[in-house]
Amino acid sequence: MKTEEVKKLDEKYVIHTYKRAPLVLVKGRGTKVWDSEGKEYLDFVAGIAVNGLGHCHSKVVKAIQQQVSQLMHISNLYYIEPQVKLAKLLAENSFGDKSFFCNSGAEANEAAIKLSRKYGKGKRYEIICMEGSFHGRTLATLTATGQEKYRKGYAPLAPGFKIVPFNNLEKVEEVISSRTVAIMLEPIQGEGGINVAKDDYLKGIRKLCDENNLLLILDEIQCGMGRTGKLFSYEHYGIEPDIMTLAKSLGGGFPIGCIITKDKIASYFSPGDHASTFGGNPLACNAARAAMEAILEEKLIENAVQVGNYFIEKLKELKKKYSFIKNVRGKGLMIGVELDFEGKDIVSKCQEKGILINCTVDKVLRFVPPLIVTKKEIDRVIDVLDEVFSKIGMR
Ligand SMILES: Cc1ncc(COP(=O)(O)O)c(C=O)c1O
Repeated sequence: MKTEEVKKLDEKYVIHTYKRAPLVLVKGRGTKVWDSEGKEYLDFVAGIAVNGLGHCHSKVVKAIQQQVSQLMHISNLYYIEPQVKLAKLLAENSFGDKSFFCNSGAEANEAAIKLSRKYGKGKRYEIICMEGSFHGRTLATLTATGQEKYRKGYAPLAPGFKIVPFNNLEKVEEVISSRTVAIMLEPIQGEGGINVAKDDYLKGIRKLCDENNLLLILDEIQCGMGRTGKLFSYEHYGIEPDIMTLAKSLGGGFPIGCIITKDKIASYFSPGDHASTFGGNPLACNAARAAMEAILEEKLIENAVQVGNYFIEKLKELKKKYSFIKNVRGKGLMIGVELDFEGKDIVSKCQEKGILINCTVDKVLRFVPPLIVTKKEIDRVIDVLDEVFSKIGMR
């Protein structure tokens, strides 16, 4: 189908919750995607950090093909072999002991919120969340989200959430009360503009949790699975969470979400307390196991460090050249470039030149390429950015 045709059908039949770029992507391999007119793009959006392994990674494709012809779905009323294998792999490679599986990031955060409320035994239920955060679009997760634009029009919101400024320990301390049960945050805020938690801040949050018997919930939905140069971002900080949520690249492109926690906290959920029809289905779990094994076996975390540092260095060189670049920040391959003007035109200019990037909080260009990206591909993106920036000129 031609782009115009798809656009027309979308206009007529799809509810308009997305502002879409005029592009129909029909094929992907590795770091590249192709549109319906056959044009090739280097994909530095990667499904907003979903395609961590790039598109159609052979191990994930094989795992899906093998599972799809054997058993796609079976109820959680029965034991599921691919589910226990994935849970074991996650436990062996993280702080956690046990997982619960669902289908998306918002559902994972919902599960974390519900588990915290169980932990609070009806007496403690409040969760402290951060300004600039993003935790999902369900009613509870958007209440936990510290950005007004997502909440507008949805009042009354879920009770029991306190929002405080990010990277400010004192403000957290100020709102802890006898009702508080948890602190929830992203070690690196994604939708909020690639804001990195300071080292002392996260250590301080851990300490506050320990002193007040609070659960530390880390949302690693965007920053987990090797993206920041560690398998999980909490590893940068020398601390461990009590609950971690994952989704996005967990399934190597296939939808899956999960929470991981310690045995003691997991025991606050009993059979019937929480569930998901599709959660932990054989197909999603087999895809996720293959994806996670590929990240570990193919040394993609090391690549995220090396290529990520190289990318940041090159972006900092651009910052020296263009005064409208206010800041370059991030870790590994989760990088933001803050401009002093709205970035949407830069995004479309890059798209014209065959590079897909995106912009968040209006002014932050976000780069979350697949972890398989090479320095040569970074050079190409830098050249295109330089060319696009040079047309804007010095300000
Ligand atoms: C940090 C974070 N948490 C939660 C979510 C929600 O995930 P989903 O869209 O799969 O519900 C997102 C999505 O962008 C996210 O970046």
